Amino acid sequence: MLIPPDVPLSARAFEFLTKLVYDRSRIRLGPDRQALVASRLRQRVQSLGLSDYEAYCSLLRAPEGEDEVDALIDLISTNHTHFFREPAHFELLSRHILPQMADGVQGTLRQLRFWSAAASSGEETYSLAIVLAEFCRNRPWLQWHIDASDISQRMLHRCQQGIYEADKVELPVPEWRERYFQRGIGEREGCLRIKQELRRHVSVHSINLFQDAYPVSRGLDVIFCRNVMIYFDVPSRSHLVERLTDMLVPGGYLFVGHSESLIGIRHGLTSVWPSVYIRPQ
Ligand SMILES: C[S@@+](CC[C@H](N)C(=O)[O-])C[C@H]1O[C@@H](n2cnc3c(N)ncnc32)[C@H](O)[C@@H]1O
Repeated sequence: MLIPPDVPLSARAFEFLTKLVYDRSRIRLGPDRQALVASRLRQRVQSLGLSDYEAYCSLLRAPEGEDEVDALIDLISTNHTHFFREPAHFELLSRHILPQMADGVQGTLRQLRFWSAAASSGEETYSLAIVLAEFCRNRPWLQWHIDASDISQRMLHRCQQGIYEADKVELPVPEWRERYFQRGIGEREGCLRIKQELRRHVSVHSINLFQDAYPVSRGLDVIFCRNVMIYFDVPSRSHLVERLTDMLVPGGYLFVGHSESLIGIRHGLTSVWPSVYIRPQ
């Protein structure tokens, strides 16, 4: 059964969907998003063999629709990302933050810990991993680990695999392609895969930033939570920033997206560079 493109998403169904999405993920869908929601869900509704959006809402309301809520959030969330997005953050890390952190742990067995907290398909996570691997070329003693997480199962699967279309992999240093990626062959021709020596430093988790407890332990040195807060309202952002602050070691850093300053939010962090904050000692 196919939904014709002119079958509308009623105001009632849209209201139900926006409330459900907000309750589960805190993603706020404004009234201007109605057409977008309709177009993102049309194919899903069709592939489930349902006649219209009302039938889809009924499925979501039913006990057996619980898994479908995850699929809904997957379809609604915006997952756009790319390697070395907002490159100033990576430069800041390698030039200023990592040298200072490495001095702080030298001679101890302490591992540096990073969390890429809305990692999408992993480009941010592996950009971070490349920066760390480069930094460690002269400091082989330095131990590090990255936890990568997202709410979207589809994105997490891609993050876990670490396979990307070669023409979408743009790196600031061309030699990093050979150093950190392997070329796909056969049906993977045209793709690059992050080498195992980098992937072994990354653990991938399914985390909703608003779930009760995080399966990542406290004491993180750096959290990247970039380009996700824009989808949340101010009370949700404040709550999230408070929780993320609590996850950092004193002296640890929170990176947010360039368009996501914490202005207007009460927090206990100190701004050190645009969109970069430190938890005071
Ligand atoms: C635009 S991407 C940002 C990716 C990357 N951080 C970057 O800056 O390029 C936003 C990601 O946030 C995720 N997201 C949205 N709401 C979330 C929530 N409540 N908990 C965890 N992740 C969420 C989406 O699934 C999406 O992959």
